Amino acid sequence: MVERFDAVDVIRTKRDGGELSRQQISWVIDAYTRGEVADEQMSALAMAVYLRGMGMDEIRHWTRAMVASGDRLDFSGLSRPTVDKHSTGGVGDKITLPLAPLVSVFGAAVPQLSGRGLGHTGGTLDKLETIPGWSAKLSREELMARLEDPGAVICAAGPGLAPADKKLYALRDITGTVDCIPLIASSIMSKKIAEGTSALVLDVKVGAGAFMKRSEDARKLAEIMVDLGTSAGVRTSALLTDMSAPLGRTVGNALEVAEAVEVLEGGGPADVVELTVALAQEMLEAAGQGGHDVAAALKDGRAMDAWRRMITAQGGDPDAKLPVARERHVVRAERSGVVREMDALCLGIASWRLGAGRSRKEDPVQAGAGIVIHKTVGEAVEAGEPLLSLYTDEPERFDRALEVLRGAVTYDGWGSPGRGSVLLGRVG
Ligand code: URA
Repeated sequence: MVERFDAVDVIRTKRDGGELSRQQISWVIDAYTRGEVADEQMSALAMAVYLRGMGMDEIRHWTRAMVASGDRLDFSGLSRPTVDKHSTGGVGDKITLPLAPLVSVFGAAVPQLSGRGLGHTGGTLDKLETIPGWSAKLSREELMARLEDPGAVICAAGPGLAPADKKLYALRDITGTVDCIPLIASSIMSKKIAEGTSALVLDVKVGAGAFMKRSEDARKLAEIMVDLGTSAGVRTSALLTDMSAPLGRTVGNALEVAEAVEVLEGGGPADVVELTVALAQEMLEAAGQGGHDVAAALKDGRAMDAWRRMITAQGGDPDAKLPVARERHVVRAERSGVVREMDALCLGIASWRLGAGRSRKEDPVQAGAGIVIHKTVGEAVEAGEPLLSLYTDEPERFDRALEVLRGAVTYDGWGSPGRGSVLLGRVG
């Protein structure tokens, strides 16, 4: 039986810098989910948390209460150990696509319950839905069956997991309370804990294209999320990775699928391969299946076989031609030099404006829209050479995309060391 409180008292406690009790947190999250606490009251509380913060005990209870607001999946009956990955969101981040099948090659099951994109970072489901026939919708029985065979599943999370977070996240989005470490950590971890995975690896992004622009903040977020996972009985660790520039050479749904397939064919950009291999190793360790030569499975076709089986199992045709946008605009280098910086946030927003992303969750996305990066950080370019290709079905979108790209790429006359490793640190 949940003890009752007055919403105004709970808001006042946090507004005045006090600590919320476990009972207050359980009540307010439950009452908000049921509609007894109004949106405007929860908005005020979210803003109070934003301004005053929460201690670790409060964050743990907030997370627990959000998990308790809905269903919790149970994978304990499966013959394989389960391990999942969550990225805090980045531009050109298509890592889930090669990663899930790669990890499944080594005996772990990957329940990758994903979302659609909102804002400048793309959604994994939007990417996979560009594959003809592929469906994100699976029943619980189908999810369980696919986790046994082929072992990797990427599907929609369904409304039953952490419904409190669904409501609260939508509210935070329109009240300026998204970029708050306690709220981000509890939001992400409530969904992952409810999903029922026994191990979890977090990819916490740092840099221009990420929520966390500073590495101290990213580390703090990672530490809190690792604590939340561990205290809920999920073996959790985190990698801190660079999101100053986009990952790989493509941003946009079908373009990113094509690049992921290149990685599964043993090629692809070095940064995408590096991160895929690092996360796969970390996930297999966490699942108790460490010690494998993960990179070899990208080269010898085992990961590709697993990808084909994963796509086919969800109705997709892995051999079908991917959609291509109707219109292309080439951005040429203004001068000769070496590309020093390519602002991930600007490229993410440009891709979104080209039609690859949505502003409201009901909006459609264009399968072929996005950006191909011809010259990336550390590469030399001659004045007039193609730097980026922009793609969209609606040419009137080019101007708005070009507007945000102005100044997004900087050159060096005398050379730059290149991007280096995308791996910046580890927590857990
Ligand atoms: N992703 C989430 O799921 N929640 C947040 O608060 C931020 C990013």
